[in-house]
Amino acid sequence: MTVSATKSPKRTKVSTTVREVIRDYQQDKDKLIQILLDLQGIFGWLSQEALTEVSEHLKVPITQVYQVASYYKAFSLMPRGRHIIKVCLGTACQVRGSPRLLDTISAMLDMKPGETSKDMRFTLETVNCLGCCAMGPVVVVDETYHARPSPSDLRKILESAK
Ligand code: FES
Repeated sequence: MTVSATKSPKRTKVSTTVREVIRDYQQDKDKLIQILLDLQGIFGWLSQEALTEVSEHLKVPITQVYQVASYYKAFSLMPRGRHIIKVCLGTACQVRGSPRLLDTISAMLDMKPGETSKDMRFTLETVNCLGCCAMGPVVVVDETYHARPSPSDLRKILESAK
């Protein structure tokens, strides 16, 4: 008599990664935000699949996971580009011309704030203050701050981001 082994359900890459991250935090429910931050860092956004896996493996209601994921601006529930462009529209930067910078970048990339390019290269965002008002107007591309960039500076910065 042959006994076939029961196959475990096939795990996706997302499922495997979520399990690994949760294991790193000893399945501690109090670390939900840290777990989501790690997953956001790995995937660039939090998909429905990732949030469902977190809920199941951390044993936290899906509504609670969504509440946290949608509350904090650090989390994105939509796919984001490989490069995140943030234009500061805080008062100090506005006074110094950041709306013009935003218009210039929007025109260069043919995108509005909040959008991601079709090739997934860029996501354009606005922020209210980056805490470095004296440098304003400020544009941040990924983790690099650019103070008072000219249109030609912006063109070079965007062209160098592959
Ligand atoms: S207002 Fe732009 S950095 Fe503060």
